[in-house]
Amino acid sequence: MEQQTRLPRHIAVIMDGNGRWAKKRGLPRTDGHKKGAEVFRQICQYASDIGIEYMTFYAFSTENWKRSEQEVCAIMDLLRAYLAEMQQREDENRTGGYRIRFLGAREGMPDDIVRLMDEAEEKSRDKTRITINICVNYGGRDEIVHAVRTLCDRAKRGELEPADVSEALVSDALYTAGQPDPDLIIRPSGEVRLSNFLVWQSAYAEFYFDDVLWPDFTPADLDRAIAAYNQRDRRFGDAR
Ligand code: IPE
Ligand code: IPE
Ligand code: MG
Repeated sequence: MEQQTRLPRHIAVIMDGNGRWAKKRGLPRTDGHKKGAEVFRQICQYASDIGIEYMTFYAFSTENWKRSEQEVCAIMDLLRAYLAEMQQREDENRTGGYRIRFLGAREGMPDDIVRLMDEAEEKSRDKTRITINICVNYGGRDEIVHAVRTLCDRAKRGELEPADVSEALVSDALYTAGQPDPDLIIRPSGEVRLSNFLVWQSAYAEFYFDDVLWPDFTPADLDRAIAAYNQRDRRFGDAR
C-alpha cells in the first residue's frame, strides 16, 4: 500500500459468490465454500500485515439455514476445521495476535461449535494485533431484536427507564459492543445489497461493490477497495 493511504480502521466483508465460483467450474457448491474459507484465511493475514484493526466477515446468515442440509453441514464442517486450526495455533503460540469474536446467535448452532467458539474467544481475548469478527448465524435484524430484549430485561429489573434508551445503549447491546462501526463494507460477487449484514452499524459506512467472486478475491482486490475508500469524501451529515 502507498504511504499516504488512509487505512480504514474497520473493514467488513460479505463473503459472497462461492456457489457461482464452483458452478462455473462444474464443481459442487461445497468446493466453492472450501476455497472461500482459504481466501478468508489469506485476507485475515493480509489485513493484519497492513495494519487494519478490525475485520468483520459475513460467513453464515440467519437466512442461510434455508439451504440444503448437505450445504449447511459442509459449511459447519469448515467452521469446525477453522476452529480446530485456531486451537492448534493457539497451543503453539502462533495465532499472530488475532483476537477472534463470533457475532451472531449462539442458539440454534451445534453445541460442539458453540463450545469451540467460546473457547477461541476466551483464549484470544487479550490479543491486540487485529480483531477478527466472524458472523455466524448472524442477521442484522436478529441482532437488533436481541439488543432490544436485553434492554427490555434491564428495564424490567429497574436498571433503566425507557427514556434512558439512547443510541449508545443500543450500540452497547449489539454483538459489536465496544467496537467502532465499519468504515468500509465490501461486497464481491456483483450483488448490490446488504442481505441483513450490520444493519445498525452500517449507517455511515462507505460501500464498495466488486464483480469478483469471493473465492477469487485477492489482497490486490482489498487494496483496490481501500484505494476507492480513499477517494470518498465522508461527511457524516456535516456541510463541508
Ligand atoms: C457465500 O456464497 C457463502 C454463504 C452465503 C454461506 P454463496 O453460497 O452465497 O454463493 P453464491 O451467491 O450462491 O454464488
Ligand atoms: C449473504 O450472502 C450472506 C453471506 C455471505 C454469509 P447470501 O448469498 O446469503 O445473500 P443473498 O441471498 O444473495 O441476498
Ligand atoms: Mg450468495
